[in-house]
Amino acid sequence: MMKILITGATGLIGKELTQLLLANNHTVHYLTTSKTKIEEQSNYIGFYWNPQEGKIDENCLYGVDVIVHLAGANIANRWTNAYKQEIIESRTLSGELLFNLVKKYPNQVKQIISASGTAIYPESLSTIYDETTTETEDSFLSHVVKKWEEAADRFQVLGLKVCKLRTGIVLSNKGGALPEMVKPIKFGFGAGMGSGKQMQSWIHITDLVSLYYLAIEKQLEGVYNAVTPNPISNQQLTKVIAKTLKKPLFLPNIPKFIMQLILGEMSYLLFSGKNLSAEKVIKTGFRFQFPKIEQAIADLYA
Ligand SMILES: NC(=O)c1ccc[n+]([C@@H]2O[C@H](COP(=O)([O-])OP(=O)(O)OC[C@H]3O[C@@H](n4cnc5c(N)ncnc54)[C@H](OP(=O)(O)O)[C@@H]3O)[C@@H](O)[C@H]2O)c1
Repeated sequence: MMKILITGATGLIGKELTQLLLANNHTVHYLTTSKTKIEEQSNYIGFYWNPQEGKIDENCLYGVDVIVHLAGANIANRWTNAYKQEIIESRTLSGELLFNLVKKYPNQVKQIISASGTAIYPESLSTIYDETTTETEDSFLSHVVKKWEEAADRFQVLGLKVCKLRTGIVLSNKGGALPEMVKPIKFGFGAGMGSGKQMQSWIHITDLVSLYYLAIEKQLEGVYNAVTPNPISNQQLTKVIAKTLKKPLFLPNIPKFIMQLILGEMSYLLFSGKNLSAEKVIKTGFRFQFPKIEQAIADLYA
């Protein structure tokens, strides 16, 4: 049995991953920025940290084999300059704080798995990008991903295996992007975004946490696209949700400039299209439980 230290364990992905690890008799230590979220059970123990102030409870590392680094300020908030800085620093300063702690207690932790994003890849309708591509996008979020992955890569000098999961849109009914897409459709005001052609590389939350689990079990190293082999256009995704909810879609697509007015630069999240390969993940032996969008949406909303 292993002891896993998770940062961001209280979030959408962290909660599900924690459940899976505990169900398989592993022990979870977690770091939280919120003292009220600290719990102490025999196999699930919370510790306080504040990356901005460089504070961390060093006991969190006691007996830990693997670190899973999920913490980061949510990107679905208005991107003011101050918040953009928080998006970056909540990922990089937290990584640095962990790095200094692991350095202080060497030869113990074997692996770090860091969440990462697909924003690093160029936009694409038809080219399917895999992990070997050196082309990157020139956008704020791409810059975030580069800094985030650099912070993870540093652990190599301490002898840790470093694994980065470039995660697509995580589909869950408990949070993230999907409930926001479902809401207007439920009330009969659903519509695609812009041309609706932008490709969305996605993954069901159950598959994503299974992939984290496999990455721990197989001690995976390197970059992996955490996406299903079946990306889908924004228009198709909107249609599948409407069909599953048995709701009509009659409104025209919402033009990009309107969402830009409402959301500012963050509207990027709705219009940027990523078309990514899942081959590398499949070659590890991973089998998707929800490879097709119809299955995933039916599981969550039918
Ligand atoms: N959900 C997606 O579709 C998706 C897609 C691609 C990548 N990812 C990435 O995967 C990671 C986990 O995603 P998620 O959806 O589970 O995120 P989430 O629900 O927003 O949870 C992230 C956790 O990070 C911690 N956190 C928030 N702000 C922080 C800050 N300023 N400093 C330090 N910690 C902070 C919080 O834990 P405490 O309150 O306990 O400190 C929070 O529970 C994130 O880094 C996210 O960017 C998510």
